[in-house]
Amino acid sequence: MALREVRQQGDPILQRECKPVKELKERDQILIDDMLETMHANDGVGLAAPQVGVLKQIAVVDVSENRDDPIILINPKVVESDGEQTGPEGCLSLPGLYGDVTRPNHVVVEALDRNMEPFTVEGEELFARAMCHEIDHLSGHMYTELAQGPLYEMDEEDEKVKNRRSNRKRTK
Ligand code: NI
Repeated sequence: MALREVRQQGDPILQRECKPVKELKERDQILIDDMLETMHANDGVGLAAPQVGVLKQIAVVDVSENRDDPIILINPKVVESDGEQTGPEGCLSLPGLYGDVTRPNHVVVEALDRNMEPFTVEGEELFARAMCHEIDHLSGHMYTELAQGPLYEMDEEDEKVKNRRSNRKRTK
């Protein structure tokens, strides 16, 4: 595994549409491992392939308290959403900054896992927010397009409080 460079806001690759994955090759498995390592090393709750310069529909999310229970989303689609939450959102492509973004409070996502097996995952609150954020990256969208008001900085303590408010349910 290796750390990959995270592309920063302004890099045109972050605005491009990603291609669906038809077959997972060895290099894609390495990409997934590297994305997990890069997300955890940067203390992120999610990372999308275009953020490491790869235009494929692959994202990783980990909102678990001990940061040891990641989920891998290949060709993910939000198939149901309801409710509403407004709160701070950040991105490893724009470190240190946050913006208030309204997202659904609950989403159901269909995706493939790293064996290319379909699964359904359901999330609320931070987990729902993180999945929506990463899925947006796969179609070339940054949260800054949705942020209400100016972006702001937030200290580490606030961030820890935010990260604890996670909730997830997974179904096969
Ligand atoms: Ni992001």
